[in-house]
Amino acid sequence: MTTIITASIERLEAIYTLRPKLYELGMFVSNKPDFAVQLAGDFSTLGNYLLTVTDAFRFEISLEKADSAHVLRASLTLENHLESLSQTEIRQTGFTHLIDAESQIFRKHYRFTTNEVAADPEALKRILSNKTKEELFNDLNRKNIQLQVEIDERITAEEALRETQRDLVAAEKLAALGGLVAGIAHEINTPVGIGVTAASHLRETIDGFATLCAEGKLKRSDLDALINSVRDLNGMVEENLQRASSLIKSFKEVAVDQTAEDEREFLLKQYVNQVVISLSPKLRNRSIEIVLDGIDESISLKTTPGPISQILTNLIMNSLVHAFDANQSGKIEISAFRDLDVLQLTYADSGKGIAAENLEKIFDPFFTTKRSHGGSGLGMHLVYNIVTKKYLGQIKCESEPNQGVIFHMSLHNVF
Ligand SMILES: Nc1ncnc2c1ncn2[C@@H]1O[C@H](COP(=O)(O)OP(=O)(O)OP(=O)(O)O)[C@@H](O)[C@H]1O
Ligand SMILES: [Mg+2]
Repeated sequence: MTTIITASIERLEAIYTLRPKLYELGMFVSNKPDFAVQLAGDFSTLGNYLLTVTDAFRFEISLEKADSAHVLRASLTLENHLESLSQTEIRQTGFTHLIDAESQIFRKHYRFTTNEVAADPEALKRILSNKTKEELFNDLNRKNIQLQVEIDERITAEEALRETQRDLVAAEKLAALGGLVAGIAHEINTPVGIGVTAASHLRETIDGFATLCAEGKLKRSDLDALINSVRDLNGMVEENLQRASSLIKSFKEVAVDQTAEDEREFLLKQYVNQVVISLSPKLRNRSIEIVLDGIDESISLKTTPGPISQILTNLIMNSLVHAFDANQSGKIEISAFRDLDVLQLTYADSGKGIAAENLEKIFDPFFTTKRSHGGSGLGMHLVYNIVTKKYLGQIKCESEPNQGVIFHMSLHNVF
């Protein structure tokens, strides 16, 4: 029994690569002039081979000169293979679409040629060129669907990324606030503790004086001592309450500003000073000098001050963590001037600086050189986001190892 399979010229090459295998299976491939190739052998065994060679599905196959029972058997075998393939292995390798489309084409073409090509060989040429169009159309459709899927996936991924960024910013704010609260509690404890001690000392002094009075043993010198003690202790109480009160005041402003988004008018230099005071728990026991002389006293901003505090807090904390060792002395300078509608803000420290290969990464989320010490690498990313998104400005960092760092920032919409 001989089955003749014709294939379009573009597919000859693929058929030829099958030749040795087909020969092993008892099939013989020979050239025919024009666009046809003949396969001699049992067509149903070709199905077995097609299982492993996906390229073979790209053939446009037509059958002629075969008895109808054989054609039916071959057709069923091939269709079964195509179907089982498209449902199993091929689906897993991601070719489902291709095979499904191809198998449709194949079936359509197959039925057509068995009836008509034998009678009119020219019809096959027409069918093949029609099929090419159909194939192109299917290809295009396939690509469009794929593209749409990719676009959908990207949109979903971008949305997820934005959400994560929002979460991170929120988490960072809360973390900063949490740290601040711990710092406040610690810092205020000292003056309040001294105040309480002084007040109880005052009570003891008065009690002692009252006893002397009651016993009629009071001397002039006792009165003098009382006056001195009361004056000293009162001074202590007053001074420490004053200290606690001013700490609470500056903490309150910074803490509130980190959550409330209300716009208000404020003097920049005063505000920066408050931020620095709020960080005094971290600055204690460090010999770091913070110089604000370069901030123009007259600059008054009209904006939500919270983000400005976040920028400065992160920059100062970074200098404390990355620029200077615990015992090292150093200098931080903050300066600012108004340039038409833009605030030019500069932050510099005299610390270790940043290596060239790290400089371009410092604004990347999660970039940190202190991961093992608890750094999350989000601080500068947050600063970058605030400057560029909230203030529609720019931030640049200049640094060389052991030459400190300089951050230049331009902030819009703050006047
Ligand atoms: N003033 C500085 N001097 C030297 N290196 C710095 C300075 N500021 C930032 N860096 C470098 O930039 C990196 C990123 O800073 P970033 O604030 O984003 O993260 P982090 O401070 O390591 O962690 P965290 O999320 O806790 O702030 C730091 O790990 C450090 O290597
Ligand atoms: Mg940091």
